[in-house]
Amino acid sequence: MRALVRETELRPSDLIAPLFVKEGIDEPVAIESMPGHAQHTLESLRKETREIASKGVAGFVLFGVPERKDAEGSEAWNPEGIAQRGLRAMREELGDEHVLIADLCLDEYTDHGHCGVLGEDGAVDNDRTLELYRRIALAQADAGADMVAPSGMMDGQVAAIRGALDEAGFERTGILAYAAKFASSFYGPFRDAAECAPRFGDRTGYQMDPANPKEALREIRADIDEGADIVMVKPALPYLDVIRRAAERFGFPLAAYNVSGEYAMVKAAAANGWLDGRRATLEVLTGIRRAGAGLILTYHAKEAADWLT
Ligand code: PBG
Repeated sequence: MRALVRETELRPSDLIAPLFVKEGIDEPVAIESMPGHAQHTLESLRKETREIASKGVAGFVLFGVPERKDAEGSEAWNPEGIAQRGLRAMREELGDEHVLIADLCLDEYTDHGHCGVLGEDGAVDNDRTLELYRRIALAQADAGADMVAPSGMMDGQVAAIRGALDEAGFERTGILAYAAKFASSFYGPFRDAAECAPRFGDRTGYQMDPANPKEALREIRADIDEGADIVMVKPALPYLDVIRRAAERFGFPLAAYNVSGEYAMVKAAAANGWLDGRRATLEVLTGIRRAGAGLILTYHAKEAADWLT
């Protein structure tokens, strides 16, 4: 009877699995702060992709961890860079039933760890960064990404990338925009996984103040106007109110990113026996769906898909 009157559905096809591929390793390297996740080799990436895809998860978002970093992050648009090689490998494993998304940012690729290129004053130069994002988008589309997902929170990034893709004949490559991305402590474990903690300063110059839901709605509106196909709120749990407001206000495809720190909290508590990991995970994901997110990027995707089928 509970199932008959359930108001919120949670299905594997609502979930997107983030994966990491690292250059120059022979074996996958476990990520300590994200139990169950690893920096993959190309080979282990293929295997993990196949396994998760077979569980009915909707799609994947890939992050590359390059061997060589420089001030501009040039490996990000190298056609033979690790992310592009990873995308090609995943594309080969996946048919048309799964969406392949490339995270589009520079922080994994720059030696200073910021999401853009730095100006002479040491601050991120927004407009020069957009030029580099355009190059990355083309490399990722060429490598087989169905969508690119700009996560650097530069102003005008969606319009810049849309323009670059269209000019190069990639009109059908979509954009999943990290539209309302807050400067959050919950990205901690990700920065281990992607080896991208900023060497100095922080990301408050481009990521949002957790106190600002109205600004979040303006950011989302701007990305819709610039041509985003899906907009995203990130992190998810501390911002369920933003998800709810965005869902009601825009009626536009909306994703939420259940980020690394949110995952780590559940895993750590479950490992200590302080809560029931399975129940907590499904409750978290149901809560994010209930708030109004149609899609959830989550490190729980693989295990949740198992529990849901
Ligand atoms: C930036 C990026 C970050 C995440 C996704 N893309 C880190 C950051 O902004 O510091 C975090 C995702 C997570 O914590 O799971 N390229």
